[in-house]
Amino acid sequence: MKIPKRLQPLVEDGLVDEVIRPLMSGKEAAVYVVRCGNELRCAKVYKEANKRSFRQAVQYQEGRKVRNTRRARAMEKGSRFGRGQQEEAWHNAEVDALYRLSAAGVRVPTPHGCVDGVLLMELVTDEDGDVAPRLNDVSMSAEQAVEDHAFMMHSIVKMLCAGLVHGDLSEFNVLVDSYGPVIIDLPQAVDATQNNHARAMLERDIGNMTSYYGQFAPELKATRYAREIWALFEDGDLHPDSELTGLFEDDEADADVDGVLEEIKAAFAEEAARLERIRDADSD
Ligand SMILES: Nc1ncnc2c1ncn2[C@@H]1O[C@H](COP(=O)(O)OP(=O)(O)OP(=O)(O)O)[C@@H](O)[C@H]1O
Ligand SMILES: [Mg+2]
Repeated sequence: MKIPKRLQPLVEDGLVDEVIRPLMSGKEAAVYVVRCGNELRCAKVYKEANKRSFRQAVQYQEGRKVRNTRRARAMEKGSRFGRGQQEEAWHNAEVDALYRLSAAGVRVPTPHGCVDGVLLMELVTDEDGDVAPRLNDVSMSAEQAVEDHAFMMHSIVKMLCAGLVHGDLSEFNVLVDSYGPVIIDLPQAVDATQNNHARAMLERDIGNMTSYYGQFAPELKATRYAREIWALFEDGDLHPDSELTGLFEDDEADADVDGVLEEIKAAFAEEAARLERIRDADSD
């Protein structure tokens, strides 16, 4: 096909040998199948900021690390230089997340770098070599849904242990190849410890996955993985291989009434002892 303008520099640099066909033009990016040497890859061309949607929202930007302070100031001011930098930070966030997550053993497309606003990555395919379907286009048995849901919860735990929450995880951002689910579309991934919305985003991500798989295995809908995972994470007890139960007791449900009474009694006793010490001191 005719080489799209934004892919031209990559062809000139020899990073891409041929542009095979457009795959998808989404809200944020246009995606192409390209050939690099004898491998088919996926090229994601990000749209200009003003053509993009909600995900640039402030809540996603919070806590995102910008190393250079001049750059951070420019981004805050929203100068032209700043907008350029913000754009670049947005692109880099997805590449950074892909490298970080592949290193952490999460199934994501293997990244092959990001040049001039184009991300090159592994093309996820099915057993016939065709582009893998999105989870949204796949139906499955209850047994398979339970298995894949557990795998997904485990992937989310590994992501969180690597410091990230996806932030837009849904059946549209998961592909299914012959080994199972592959997570894609990460430019909005948020820093789990720096972003105040991380917990809410984790709950939404897990909620989306649970209701999708829950269509095939309704028992999944009663699970409470988000609460369980976040509680472990907050206590510093979450590990990539943490065993999960899907159960979570609300604080009210298991409030330790006896323990609280004991503490009140202890406080009274302490106060009585303090008053006694004061009396003793006065009488000396
Ligand atoms: N590595 C990949 N391998 C195969 N297909 C891919 C890959 N990456 C993206 N796609 C296809 O391109 C579509 C768009 O990709 P992605 O979700 O990353 O971009 P997007 O612009 O955020 O899209 P949307 O707005 O639809 O979420 C995906 O739904 C998927 O069908
Ligand atoms: Mg997407």
